[in-house]
Amino acid sequence: MKIIRSIKAMQAYSTSLRRKGRTIAVVPTMGCLHEGHLTLVDTAKKHADSVIVTIFVNPTQFGPKEDFSKYPRPLRRDMSLCRKRGADAVFTPSAEEMYGTGATTTWVEELRLSQGLCGKSRPIHFRGVTTVVAKLFNATLPDVAVFGKKDYQQAKIIQRMTRNLNFPVRIVLQETVREKDGLALSSRNSYLSQDEKDAALSIRRSLLSAKSAILKGEKSTARIRKSIVNGITSAGGRIDYVEIVGADSLEPLRKISGKTLIAVATFFGKTRLIDNIEIQNRFEKD
Ligand code: PAJ
Repeated sequence: MKIIRSIKAMQAYSTSLRRKGRTIAVVPTMGCLHEGHLTLVDTAKKHADSVIVTIFVNPTQFGPKEDFSKYPRPLRRDMSLCRKRGADAVFTPSAEEMYGTGATTTWVEELRLSQGLCGKSRPIHFRGVTTVVAKLFNATLPDVAVFGKKDYQQAKIIQRMTRNLNFPVRIVLQETVREKDGLALSSRNSYLSQDEKDAALSIRRSLLSAKSAILKGEKSTARIRKSIVNGITSAGGRIDYVEIVGADSLEPLRKISGKTLIAVATFFGKTRLIDNIEIQNRFEKD
């Protein structure tokens, strides 16, 4: 497995693969890899001949009070996981390599899907994500890029950016990988105490019971929202948001109709966790 740190070397490697007629899938990550990330690698292998994993903790998507400096960076372990999982290369640039030493004054910004949900509580976050993903596409020159539905809003924004900017990249989305007990895998789970982890199971429980209420015919988003908020707060979680939106528009719904997404962001202790559930309403056609 190749380990590449410079953009020039990355572009040269991808260009040489392309000359050999090999297709390339990229899996962008911030490292501290878990089974969720590694399942993206498996999916990437199904869609292309060569797989590049990028590991870069991107400073521009963290707010000033967020966990950029303490974000875990077990790079050696991550590389060994990538090697075992069959990645062809890991691209792990420094911040200076990605952004240079001068000020960044050119940004890639999606202005519609990024307004609600996490965009409200993390105002510069998605601008940082779209900018770095565009830069990673320019460095790795992929045919396919794989993202997880755990970060549903991010995935939708990246799909839109790719289409709007005509990147010749096919975006593949991967279902959320969970612990057996239902907790969505996340690098940030490592911040949780055992008690907080147990309490955080209320997220999945509340989302599943909301889904089953909707499938039984519940239409009131106010009632559904209330029962999710109750389920999570009574377990000790603090709500950042609980939103019921159209799965494609990400716009809030007053009444359930069509394909629906329930997305939540919560704090357990100081740790912010997100999760979501998609619901295809069987009483209606799309
Ligand atoms: P990171 O949080 O490391 O996640 C990298 C990719 O793994 C994302 O596509 C994310 O949705 C996916 N992922 C994380 N947990 C998952 C799970 N439990 N199941 C399935 N997929 C999961 O998302 C980022 O990094 C960054 O914002 C990035 C896109 C790399 C840009 O910096």
